[in-house]
Amino acid sequence: MLNHPLPRIDKDETLRKLLLPYCRFNEGTVWNDKTIGHKIACIDISNKNDVKKVFGKLKAKLSVQDPPYNFIAFKEKQDADFIKWCKEWIALNIEVSNKNSSFYFWLGADQSNHFEPFGGFIEMMKLSGLNSRSFITMRNQRGYGTQYNWMAIRQELLFYTQGKPKFNIKSEYTDIPKVLKGYYKEIGGDKTENLERSKSHFIRAGNVWIDVQQVFYRMEENVNGCYAQKPLKAIKRIIEASTTKNELVTDFFSHSGTTLIACELLGRKCYTFDYDPVYCEISLRRLENYRETKKTGWQNSNPFFEEIIQDKKILSHLRKKYNITYS
Ligand SMILES: C[S@@+](CC[C@H](N)C(=O)[O-])C[C@H]1O[C@@H](n2cnc3c(N)ncnc32)[C@H](O)[C@@H]1O
Repeated sequence: MLNHPLPRIDKDETLRKLLLPYCRFNEGTVWNDKTIGHKIACIDISNKNDVKKVFGKLKAKLSVQDPPYNFIAFKEKQDADFIKWCKEWIALNIEVSNKNSSFYFWLGADQSNHFEPFGGFIEMMKLSGLNSRSFITMRNQRGYGTQYNWMAIRQELLFYTQGKPKFNIKSEYTDIPKVLKGYYKEIGGDKTENLERSKSHFIRAGNVWIDVQQVFYRMEENVNGCYAQKPLKAIKRIIEASTTKNELVTDFFSHSGTTLIACELLGRKCYTFDYDPVYCEISLRRLENYRETKKTGWQNSNPFFEEIIQDKKILSHLRKKYNITYS
């Protein structure tokens, strides 16, 4: 396994500035894909008109939204400001969506602060015009907490719809084998056991996902430098359940470009946004790297390795600050 780690870019402004010259994005840049028609837009999604321009007449059938709820971006903001901000971009999200469409929101629930922003968010959503459909919990392998509390290992995922979008849950099986036996039923005079009757020997995906591995540096899909990467398996599950081929999916908070890659893998079109040129560049490089190598990430290498190895300033910064050297 290659060993070219890159620390979290969001926590190191010097590193971020050193990487910026290698980015093809500036504020306002929109990259248009010639192959499938994806778009990556370096836009603050608070800028309503700029976002609408990216969509033009096309409407999204699915939104997969993972806002920065992790109290890093919002440490100076009150929960109420966060909710107000969400209310605004969700109204815009609805405007750029098809009348029959699905919406998934990843959220946090801070257990030492009355589970905010979760509580405020679901209250606010009552007036959004969307219908609540499911409250999914994804289990993380690593958590946070102390020995004085239950370790926080859950990821909250809220599913809403408007109109009557398709929902193809029939194909959504986990890779967890069915083990429970003994539900007998008579069919045509014969006593049958539940495993004989079922279509699959694996359990269906319900609203508790314990079969998704949290991303870490040993996984191919890992993107070093990012801090909030969602597992491809979870995003693919959402896309397969809530869209069909060639439909438009949107993600306002691209970061490592997980939704974009999942769309590429599944033959959907993706319009994705991030206000930070570095994360737009990472998303684009991840797509280009996938098309070239069929790899979904860099495992323990990183998207900027080719440039970093030639850049004395970055090499010296990594060595001095983190004791990282590339061989
Ligand atoms: C939690 S991360 C998303 C992680 C993503 N789901 C993934 O799998 O990589 C949030 C991202 O939103 C971006 N962001 C935060 N505020 C934004 C805004 N107002 N407009 C556009 N992007 C924003 C951040 O730069 C960050 O990359």
